[in-house]
Amino acid sequence: AFGSKATIVVFGASGDLAKKKTFPALFGLFREGHLSSDVKIIGYARSHLEEEDFKKRISANFKNGTTEQVSAFLSKTSYIAGPYDTDEGYHRLLASIEEYESEHKLTAPERLFYLALPPSVFTTVASQLKKLLYTEKGKVRIIVEKPFGHDLESSRKLQKDLAPLFTEEELYRIDHYLGKEMVKNLLVLRFGNEFFNGTWNKNHIKSIQISFKEAFGTEGRGGYFDSIGIVRDVMQNHLLQVLTLLTMDRPVSFDPEAVRDEKVKILKAFEPIDHDDLILGQYTKSEDGSKPSYLDDDTVPKNSKCVTYAALGLQIHNERWEGVPIVMRAGKALDESKVEVRIQFKPVAKGMFKEIQRNELVIRIQPNEAIYLKINSKVPGISTETSLTDLDLTYSTRYSKDFWIPEAYEALIRDCYLGNHSNFVRDDELDVSWKLFTPLLEFIESDKSPQPELYPYGSKGPKALRQYLQKHDYVFADEGTYQWPLTTPK
Ligand code: BG6
Repeated sequence: AFGSKATIVVFGASGDLAKKKTFPALFGLFREGHLSSDVKIIGYARSHLEEEDFKKRISANFKNGTTEQVSAFLSKTSYIAGPYDTDEGYHRLLASIEEYESEHKLTAPERLFYLALPPSVFTTVASQLKKLLYTEKGKVRIIVEKPFGHDLESSRKLQKDLAPLFTEEELYRIDHYLGKEMVKNLLVLRFGNEFFNGTWNKNHIKSIQISFKEAFGTEGRGGYFDSIGIVRDVMQNHLLQVLTLLTMDRPVSFDPEAVRDEKVKILKAFEPIDHDDLILGQYTKSEDGSKPSYLDDDTVPKNSKCVTYAALGLQIHNERWEGVPIVMRAGKALDESKVEVRIQFKPVAKGMFKEIQRNELVIRIQPNEAIYLKINSKVPGISTETSLTDLDLTYSTRYSKDFWIPEAYEALIRDCYLGNHSNFVRDDELDVSWKLFTPLLEFIESDKSPQPELYPYGSKGPKALRQYLQKHDYVFADEGTYQWPLTTPK
C-alpha cells in the first residue's frame, strides 16, 4: 500500500468534486488496502465546517465499505478551514502536517496536494502552497484538475504561472478518462494483438467514431456550464484523449514519456477542425414535458446559444490515417448514458458475396465495459446464408465479479503516488489540444455560428446525426438481422 507516512491535502475540500470524486477515491483505495493506514489526510477549504459535518459530507458518497472501514478511514482525516489568499490558514495547515511528520520522525516527508479548485483561486493556492508548504527534503506532488484554461491563451497563461512554482515532474494534470479501465486498455488492445495492430490504418479502416452520451442535462450546473459548453467540457479533453490513444503510433515502451511523446506527435498531425462540418445542438424540454430544457435553468441567460450537443469531423494527415473520416460526438440530456468507440472496417471485395456487411469493432468504455467485433459468419445448419454476428468480450461475463476494477480517480491517485505520469496530461500535449480546439470554440462562440439545433431531453439528439454519420462513411448495420448483446449483461 502506498502513502505510508505521507500527508495528502485536498484543497477545495468542501466542494463538489472533492465530495463526489476525490474523497470517495481515497476511501476506495483505503478499503482495497492500497492506501496505507499510516496516511494522514487533511481537507482544506474556506467554508467553516465542523469536523463531524465535514466527515458526514464526504462519506455520503463512499461505496462498498463496512462501517469499520469507513470509521477507520475517517479517523485519518481532518478538516481545516482557512482563506486561500493569506498566509494564516496555511500556517495552521503546516503545523498540522509537521506535527504528524515529527510524530513519525519523517526525515524525507511525502506531501501530496490535490487541488480540487475553481480556476479563480487556482494560481493563488499554488503560489501559497509553494511559499509555505513546500519541502525540499522529501517529495512533493501536486494533482491539478481541469479546466486547464479556457482556450489556448489562458491555458498558456496558467502554464506560465505554474511553471516557476513546480516542475513538470511534480505536476499531475488529471483527465479522469485516462484512468478508466477500457481507456487504459487501448494501447494493449492495439499493440498487443497483431490482428488489430496489422489492420489499424487507412488500408483497412473506413471510419472512426467516438461517442459520448449522457442521459442527464446540466441540472444545477447550468451557470457553470454556460460559459463552457459540451466541446470544452468533454471533447477537447476526455474524448480527444481517447482518440489520441486510438490513433497514435506505437511508443517504444510503456514509459510515460515515450507514450506522451507519441500522443503529442499524432495531435500535431490533426487538420484544423472544419467549421462547416458540425452539428451543434441544445436540448429542450422532454417530449412528455417532465424534464426541463437547458434554458429553463434560472442560472442560464435566456437567449443562450450554449451547445449541449456537438458532432464534429476530424482528419489526421499522416501515412496511417490520411483520408479516414473521424467523427467525435457528445451530448447531454440524451436517451441513454454510454461512451463508446466504433471502428468500421472497409467492405470486402464483391463477387462471391452480393451483399455483405462491414466488420465493426466496438469498444464500450462505459457502462459495462465490453469489446465486440462484428463479423460475418455462415448461418449454422443447412443454410448457406451469411449473417452478421460477433466475437464478444463483455467484462461482466468474462471476468469474475471479485475482480476489483478501480474507479478512474482511484487508479489515477494511485498512479500519482507511484510517480507514474503515463495517464496524466503533459504540458505540450495540453498546448496542442488547445491549439486544435480554440479556433472551433471561437467560431462556436461568435455571432457567425448557427443557432444550435434543438432536440428534446431524452431523445437521440439532433435529427441530422444519422445522415451526418453516413456522410462520414459510417454504415448502419442492418438492424433486422443484427443485435448486440443478444442477452442483456447482468
Ligand atoms: C466531467 C464533465 O469532466 O466529465 C461532466 O465536466 C461530465 O460534465 C463528466 O458529466 C463525465 O465523466 P464520467 O466519468 O461520468 O463519464
